Amino acid sequence: MKEITYRQATALDLGQILSIMGHVNYLSFRFGRQNTKHARETVKGEFHSRNFFVCALKNKILGYAIVGDAVALMHNPLKLTKKKYAYLMGIGVLPMHQGKKLGTNLLKHIVEKYQELGYIGIYSDVGSDNSWSIKFHLGLGFILVGSYKNSQRPKHTLSLVFLKKF
Ligand SMILES: CC(C)(COP(=O)(O)OP(=O)(O)OC[C@H]1O[C@@H](n2cnc3c(N)ncnc32)[C@H](O)[C@@H]1OP(=O)(O)O)[C@@H](O)C(=O)NCCC(=O)NCCS
Repeated sequence: MKEITYRQATALDLGQILSIMGHVNYLSFRFGRQNTKHARETVKGEFHSRNFFVCALKNKILGYAIVGDAVALMHNPLKLTKKKYAYLMGIGVLPMHQGKKLGTNLLKHIVEKYQELGYIGIYSDVGSDNSWSIKFHLGLGFILVGSYKNSQRPKHTLSLVFLKKF
């Protein structure tokens, strides 16, 4: 799909981003049963302290990713070097557009932008039950650097921490 653009999101994209977050279960993963209004307001409040990226076909947003600085935003029990590393806090593509390389291209765009900013790598957290996302990360050159138990995830599911060095 040639007409797809990959870019930093604007506040005007937030409504569509939140809708995709609902479709890919990001809101329920992060906020559990808390009411949707609270979840949406929290994400909107984070817009200025994190970098939101989108892939879009004209005005239609098909996927999003949220990236931040690992020192400020990556909180896990693993002893990992965080300085000069970015942290992928979430990525999602509308279900009917998954498997068409949109996520891959969006992440490649993000890597370019963070390299320009002087970062030397990017971390990401993936549920051990999310085999598509694990394949997605491995295909992009991420390597597994650790795992930990995360109470946000279902029982018997670990958080796997992946790293891609630039
Ligand atoms: C994970 C996700 C962001 C990947 O984006 P995408 O645009 O669908 O992925 P791509 O088309 O770039 O595919 C890259 C690789 O991911 C895996 N993959 C992605 N979607 C897949 C699907 N529907 N079925 C099987 N494998 C899939 C494959 O290994 C694929 O490589 P291949 O095409 O060489 O087999 C997207 O599928 C998604 O939004 N999933 C739901 C939310 C989620 O799990 N987010 C990640 C949380 S850590």
